Amino acid sequence: MKKLTSVLLASALLGAALAGCGGNNNNSANTATNAPAGNTANSGSTKTPKVGVAIYKFDDTFMTGVRNAIDTAAKGIATVDIVDSQNSQPTQNDKVDLFVTKKYDGMLINPVDRTAAGVIIDKAKAANIPVVFLNREPLPEDMKKWDKVYYVGAKAEESGTMSGQLIVDYWKAHPEADKNGDGVLQYVMLKGEPGHQDAELRTTYSIQAIEDAGIKVEKLAEDTAMWDRVKGQEKMAAFLGSHGDKIEAVLANNDDMALGAIEALKAQGYFTGDKYMPVVGVDATAPAVQALQDGTMLGTVLNDANNQGKAAIVLASLLAKGETPTKENVGFDVTDNQYVWISYKMITKDNVADAQ
Ligand code: GAL
Ligand code: CA
Repeated sequence: MKKLTSVLLASALLGAALAGCGGNNNNSANTATNAPAGNTANSGSTKTPKVGVAIYKFDDTFMTGVRNAIDTAAKGIATVDIVDSQNSQPTQNDKVDLFVTKKYDGMLINPVDRTAAGVIIDKAKAANIPVVFLNREPLPEDMKKWDKVYYVGAKAEESGTMSGQLIVDYWKAHPEADKNGDGVLQYVMLKGEPGHQDAELRTTYSIQAIEDAGIKVEKLAEDTAMWDRVKGQEKMAAFLGSHGDKIEAVLANNDDMALGAIEALKAQGYFTGDKYMPVVGVDATAPAVQALQDGTMLGTVLNDANNQGKAAIVLASLLAKGETPTKENVGFDVTDNQYVWISYKMITKDNVADAQ
């Protein structure tokens, strides 16, 4: 703690000194030498801030969309250095250390393990580099560690409720969906990464929405497929092996797993003739939208990669320049001075245009 205080004091003094003499403390790509320092302690800087962006892993369909959105929206407002944490928290911590060493003005972090956000916040605070988290929500107690910590994401509960609603609408419109006619919906669940707020809450809230609509449910099987298409296919093949025709619906926490399930179903003759299975996902990725149009996926929920990426980089850029984010300068509502929530939207083949 003593060390932390002295580091903070030192960086505050340094910031003040630099602000006073107009020096450049940044070895950034921006080479303007007489520009005011880009240090976070200095507000009103006209220099393009450098923002270090660490994605939990590049090999994730939805996060690839967010990554591309960050890159696009950064044009003119920030110089971004986007790195792959390769699904390893130690690797990500090393990347954060590197951002600090390089004296970047801001950080945008998609944590590998959301409970590791606290450590990252400690590092950021000690170096006085504002940090915006994305997609994996830090614990509330970690968010409270510093006021220059923000989170951009979507309410996981909302996506869960919407995916449940897609099944409710189908069930009510299709009496034949109750294949064994027992008045109960027999379902299987493909979960995302355990512990991830989107996996836990989508699982709970989707079923809650079905029950709230007055439909009795029976869970035949549930397993994690870690957001992954191939794993989704394998788990679904196993579910079909043990429960076969008893399955009346498939809920997946994301589209990649839903698409994997559809592959496994196709291999068992589904989606030809009148052999059908309602399958729902979340994200509305391009291949999922294609599956909606093909009639294999019943519905999905738009997880708005474009607006999440845009809000995150705008926020990081403002904080990096020492500005206070508001609805006006961010372009999105800022809740509790630390959160930007992007809405989800239900997507079926009738409104695919909304997801494209
Ligand atoms: C979720 C998304 C998943 C996966 C995950 C990664 O919001 O629905 O597909 O990308 O984030 O954290
Ligand atoms: Ca039934």
